[in-house]
Amino acid sequence: MQKILIKNIKGLAGIQEESQSPLRGNELANLQMLENAYLAIENGRIADFGSMEELAGVVDWTDLQVIDAEGKFVLPAFCDSHSHLVFAKSREEEFVDRIKGLGYEEIGKKGGGILNSARKLAEMSEDDLFEDAMKRLEEIKSYGTGAIEIKSGYGLTLEAELKMLRVVKRLKEVSDVTIKATFLGAHAFPAAYKSDKEAYVDLVINEMLPKVVEEGLADYIDAFCERNYFTAEQLDRILKAGVEAGLKPKIHVNQFSVMGGVQVGIKHGAVSVDHLEEMSEEDFKSLSESSTIATALPSCSFFLNIPYSPVRDMLNRNIALALATDYNPGSTPSGNMQLVQSLACIKMRLTPEEALNAVTVNGAAAMELSEELGSITIGKKANLIITKPMPSMAYMAYAFGENCVEQTLLF
Ligand code: NIG
Ligand code: FE
Repeated sequence: MQKILIKNIKGLAGIQEESQSPLRGNELANLQMLENAYLAIENGRIADFGSMEELAGVVDWTDLQVIDAEGKFVLPAFCDSHSHLVFAKSREEEFVDRIKGLGYEEIGKKGGGILNSARKLAEMSEDDLFEDAMKRLEEIKSYGTGAIEIKSGYGLTLEAELKMLRVVKRLKEVSDVTIKATFLGAHAFPAAYKSDKEAYVDLVINEMLPKVVEEGLADYIDAFCERNYFTAEQLDRILKAGVEAGLKPKIHVNQFSVMGGVQVGIKHGAVSVDHLEEMSEEDFKSLSESSTIATALPSCSFFLNIPYSPVRDMLNRNIALALATDYNPGSTPSGNMQLVQSLACIKMRLTPEEALNAVTVNGAAAMELSEELGSITIGKKANLIITKPMPSMAYMAYAFGENCVEQTLLF
């Protein structure tokens, strides 16, 4: 039996005696922390934790690997519930175009954006996509990510969507990062379908979805509900088909405009509705009355220079809030969950405690991983971050741009 003891922990953060997930509204402010603590791991699971004073009596020291965390914090590894981590090439030429004044939506209309990524992905082999994605996974792990959701959506043909999802499947098999896969065939309309958009929706529903499900390639279904992209009616059709095929929705809504996508998602039992930079009064009301998680993506707002999601208003309305990266080459070329927390604090006025809960407990809930991940709870997987020495837990969000993670332990 593999046994690890982490001792002298300056602060053990994110404790939940009883796993409670997701946290809603005011509950996010409640981050339980134990100072001068130990944590025991057996067979990759949290076996015990407590204060150092109680340690002497409880530990069987035989075959024990000991990690001394003097001056350091231990917390649950981050759960990044929204990403597009599998992609072909970076898009810094569009970044420069935007600096010179073009808008993200304008670039998309000119055939850049998602279609640009789709062209590049079509030319790339499955093996090369896999190698690149693996490197990104290793990098985000070094920033503390222990679980991530990854979407397709840069394929936009049956073959290329399957290629992307097969890459995600391989990542699931070889990586110690816990991965969930989402089918996002409805990410953008390929140029050939510009004048017959319904035909593309039919292709997604009738050709792609059955194949994706048959090969067991996805856990969730997604669509980008937005002006110039998919309408609320098209979203409704796609989600209905996805749910019938056994996939729960996790969707892109309200990035630039309110289209009714939030209500369509909730109607189909969406695990989460994501982006939410724009919110109507009705959207707040719908979310506060549902169990669907609202996922905000502050590093996307930062990079595109668009409004930040009004998350403080969401918490005041008792909504369950998660934060994720949206890691992708167009709107968020960063998978750094520490930066997400810093931006949530600086730009959205969350406290560091609220931000940390939103990327751990609630991130896990937004991937239906609450039973296994997201908190320091006996019996859960011991997927943990050991920080570098820090003066306080709030230092992590405060010291934006610094990597405060020393080690990400994953089992
Ligand atoms: O979540 N908004 C839609 N999809 C991605 C960005 C896609 C891209 O620009 O490549 C997002 O921001
Ligand atoms: Fe996204």
